Amino acid sequence: MNELVTDQMKRPVQDLRISVTDRCNLRCPYCMPAEIFGERYEFLNREELLTFDEIEHITNIFVKLGVTKVRLTGGEPLLRANIGDLITALANIKGIDDLTLTTNGFLLAQNAQALKDAGLQRITVSLDSLDDATFAQMNGREYTTTRVLEGIAAAEKAGLSPIKINVVVQKGINEHTILDIARHFKGTGHIVRFIEYMDVGNLNGWDLSQVMPSQEIITLINSEMPLEPDSPNYIGEVAKRYQYVDGTGEIGVISSVSNPFCGDCSRVRLSADGQMFTCLFASRGTDLRAVIRDASSEASLIEKVASTWRIRTDRYSEERSSLTKPLEEKVEMYKIGG
Ligand code: GTP
Ligand code: 5AD
Ligand code: SF4
Ligand code: SF4
Repeated sequence: MNELVTDQMKRPVQDLRISVTDRCNLRCPYCMPAEIFGERYEFLNREELLTFDEIEHITNIFVKLGVTKVRLTGGEPLLRANIGDLITALANIKGIDDLTLTTNGFLLAQNAQALKDAGLQRITVSLDSLDDATFAQMNGREYTTTRVLEGIAAAEKAGLSPIKINVVVQKGINEHTILDIARHFKGTGHIVRFIEYMDVGNLNGWDLSQVMPSQEIITLINSEMPLEPDSPNYIGEVAKRYQYVDGTGEIGVISSVSNPFCGDCSRVRLSADGQMFTCLFASRGTDLRAVIRDASSEASLIEKVASTWRIRTDRYSEERSSLTKPLEEKVEMYKIGG
């Protein structure tokens, strides 16, 4: 029997986020700017990706060490061939009580039922605006919202609930469409979460002036549709929850910049090529693929994972404002899925 591990700040490892591909069919400028991720950009090749067996193996180890929640991410996870097979394998691991996935929704309509049948419990869809011009600007591909909305409808029909809608808010870009998206999903049972634009990665030219603090978002929505704060679903929940006073649903805000939540952070990230990252803003990962592929013993893989977590001191969002200079280099969001 393995021990549950904790890091240097006594934080357990509970929430595993697995990126299954670094590819994406969108080019959101804040994540994969089209001018950098052009046709010739070299993404990981097939041999570099962890196989489903390897992902299952590593997940089992994390579960032994404390993980109970698993989220599949990308890039865009629905671009990974036969993703349903991985979901089925993970759904069969005892000890995981929350299995979900974050998608941009473009391939969701045709996949929702199969994802549910494979064992996925719920889903989160990224959708930054319902205004087609704004959305086109934010997805970098001139796409309209039609397919994403069809995907959300299909997910609802398949019973992948609760459905969460992630809206990254960028000042001056989509702040004028916040009320509209809140109105649209009010009363549907779907939970919209407004995310403060973060300084992840090195490519998006992030600046504090582009961040709309969550409190402003809440004030804005509350002025038209009164809200009251609700308590967290679990310790360390990323989103702060609010209920509409008239009982028509819930929204959330994720305030990584204005109100960091590192104190309870129990999240670990696995990139598609098998690097373990202990923070969204980490510069380097720990190479688990090398360990799994060089025929090391099971014990050495467990020890690699456990020792990496034990020495963890990450609290980037809390330190951000006191850093005198930017970190040398941070992992890109599309490699670890947010
Ligand atoms: P549930 O509560 O399980 O539904 O999931 P969640 O709140 O973790 O949601 P999700 O994975 O959709 O995360 C929403 C967004 O919050 C991410 O895409 C990130 O932008 C941000 N986020 C999630 N985890 C972290 C974190 O550990 N640190 C920071 N700074 N931001 C995070
Ligand atoms: N800041 C905040 N959220 C981001 N996401 C991607 N890049 C950023 C950023 N710089 C969001 C995506 C998606 C989730 C995985 O992370 O829109 O909803
Ligand atoms: Fe793709 Fe998501 Fe990055 Fe947009 S934010 S480019 S949808 S991985
Ligand atoms: Fe966790 Fe790092 Fe995000 Fe803080 S900045 S909440 S330590 S992932």
